[in-house]
Amino acid sequence: MDVIPPANPVFNKEMEEAAINALRNERYILGESVDKFEEDFAKYVGTDYAVSVSSGTNALHLALLARDLTIGGEIITVASSYIATSNSILHANGTPIFCDINDEYLIDVKQIFDKISKRTKGIMPVHLYGHPADMDEINEIAQKNNLFVIEDCAQSHGAFYKGKMTGNFSDMGCFSFYSTKNMTVCGDGGMVNTNDGKLAEKIKLLRNHGQHPKDVHTILGYTARLNTVNAAIGRVQLKYLPDWIEERRKIAKKYNEHLKDVDEIILPPGDSEIKKPSYHLFEIKTKKRDELLKFLKENKIICLIHYPTPIPYQPLYKNLFGFKEGGFPKSEELSAQAMDFPMFPGLKDEQIKYISEKIHEFFNR
Ligand SMILES: Cc1ncc(COP(=O)(O)O)c(C=O)c1O
Repeated sequence: MDVIPPANPVFNKEMEEAAINALRNERYILGESVDKFEEDFAKYVGTDYAVSVSSGTNALHLALLARDLTIGGEIITVASSYIATSNSILHANGTPIFCDINDEYLIDVKQIFDKISKRTKGIMPVHLYGHPADMDEINEIAQKNNLFVIEDCAQSHGAFYKGKMTGNFSDMGCFSFYSTKNMTVCGDGGMVNTNDGKLAEKIKLLRNHGQHPKDVHTILGYTARLNTVNAAIGRVQLKYLPDWIEERRKIAKKYNEHLKDVDEIILPPGDSEIKKPSYHLFEIKTKKRDELLKFLKENKIICLIHYPTPIPYQPLYKNLFGFKEGGFPKSEELSAQAMDFPMFPGLKDEQIKYISEKIHEFFNR
C-alpha cells in the first residue's frame, strides 16, 4: 500500500487549460473569469450575490468591515476553530469573545447569551469540519439583541442546514478556497456570499482600495482581489464540487460502518433531519490519539490534528487577553483527543478498508 495522504487536491487537464486560457486571454486582475466564477458560486450556494476575495481570512475581515465593525466592537465566536476566524476580528480592530463548543464540536449556543455585552456587535459561528452550526438558535439571539451574524463557511462548501446550503443563514457567508478545502482555486482565495446588494457592493469596494469610479477612493480598502487565473480554475473545480461532496459523504458512511464497533473512538456527528454535513474532515476523538497517529503513520497512513490548541490558548491570544487554560474545557478536550482520518474524493474502498483494519489492529493490540 502506497502512502495515504490526509487530503489530495485535484488539478486536472481541464483546470490547466482554463488557467492557461485565462493567463493568455484575460486581464490578470478582475478579468472575465472572476465575474463568471462569482455568478457560478452565488448560484451554487443559493445567494443573490457572491464577491470573490484573496482568501477566506480576507472574506471574514472585509465582511466585518462591511458591517462597520469599529475599534473595540465585540464579536462572539468559538474557541475551537482555525485561528483565522478570530484573527479576522482582530484585523478589523474588533475584540473576539469566545464560547466553548457543544457535543457537535460547534459553538455552544447556550454560552452566547452570557457573553453579550453593550459592546457586542455580532456573532461569528463556524461550520467546523463541514458540520452546520445551530443557525436558527443563533439567528434568534442575534435578532433579539440587534446583532449581525457572519458565517465562517471556510470548511462547509456543500453542507446543508434545513435544506439550504450554509452561507444562506446570515448577513454574509465567508468561504475559503485554500488548497485542502472542499474545493480550491489552486492557491489562496475566498468568497463572500450575501443576499444584500449593498453589502456585496461594499465588499467590492473594500477588496479594491475603495475605488469607485476609477481613480476615486471613497473608503479605506485593501488589495484583496482574487486573481483571474485562480477564478478560472475555481470555475472548473466548482463543476466537480457537488460530486466531490457526495463522495465525501459516502466515505464518511464507510468509515462509520467499519469503525462503529471500536469503543475507544468517538465518531463524528452524523446526518440529522436538520443537518447534512459535507465532511470536510472526518474528525474523531480518542484518548489514545497521539499513539494512534504514530501507529498509523508507521503504516503509511498520514492523519492530521485540527487543531492542537484552542485559539484562546495560542500565545497571541494569551498575550493580548490573558486567557488561561481551564476556561474552555470542551475545546481543550477536543484539542487533546481529536484527529482526522484521510478524507478526499478519490479515496478508494480498499484504502478505507486498510485504514480501518489498521485502526482495529491498533486497538486490539
Ligand atoms: C474555519 C476557517 N476559517 C477561516 C479560514 C481562513 O481561510 P484562508 O486560509 O483561505 O484564509 C480557514 C482556512 O484556512 C478555516 O478553516
